[in-house]
Amino acid sequence: MNNASSLDHFKAQAAAAALELVEPGMTLGLGTGSTSAIFLELLAQRVAAGELPGLVGVATSLAVEQRARRFGLTVASLDERPVLDLTVDGADEVDPELNVIKGGGGALLREKIVAQASRRLVLVVDHTKLSPTLGVTWPVPIEVIPFGWRTHLPFFEKLGAEVVVRMAANQTPYHTDQDNLILDCRFGPIHNLEGLAEQLSRRAGLVEHGLFLGMADEVIAASPEGIQRLRRDGSA
Ligand code: A5P
Repeated sequence: MNNASSLDHFKAQAAAAALELVEPGMTLGLGTGSTSAIFLELLAQRVAAGELPGLVGVATSLAVEQRARRFGLTVASLDERPVLDLTVDGADEVDPELNVIKGGGGALLREKIVAQASRRLVLVVDHTKLSPTLGVTWPVPIEVIPFGWRTHLPFFEKLGAEVVVRMAANQTPYHTDQDNLILDCRFGPIHNLEGLAEQLSRRAGLVEHGLFLGMADEVIAASPEGIQRLRRDGSA
């Protein structure tokens, strides 16, 4: 098994474990990314088998909305369903307190809005996402409006970050669902998460950052040793 396919196996295990949390009639937030994509496929199979009547999905990106509809799921907008029972999403880096970096798939703004509207946020990851300190393995994606985006570069550099403009496959700047840009800011290990989040939130032109602090209720991490369920309330 090569590395990617072995990780796919763990992603699928985590996704399958999260599927057990889904009940008929739920309003369910549908995450973005490769692990969430596996979850969506498994979910669609259960819905097609008639096991989850009344389930309504709310997508965290336009691509996921299209995919969910293609799979035959009932999809509502967040305005139609402003309170969600559960959201299942992926993550890029997870620390022991369940703070996470998200946005590797570029959907961090909608993901955060959906997450904060959810009664419960469950993240599905493979073991490579677990990290002692955020920032060690992943940059913090930051969504900025195109107007004046270069003016942020000295600001990020002063905060100690190396900045890369996210590019699309065709080598032009990547545009989010809101038509904004993403700056991937590599800070290295971040020891004051709240302080950094606060500084980022205060700056005009930055729409949202990929630090999801204190938002995840549970992280389901699959590894060669099995499934680990990490809960914010510390319950087993
Ligand atoms: C999407 O914007 C991201 O937040 C994803 O949820 C995250 O990048 C995890 O993606 P994978 O499941 O593909 O690793």
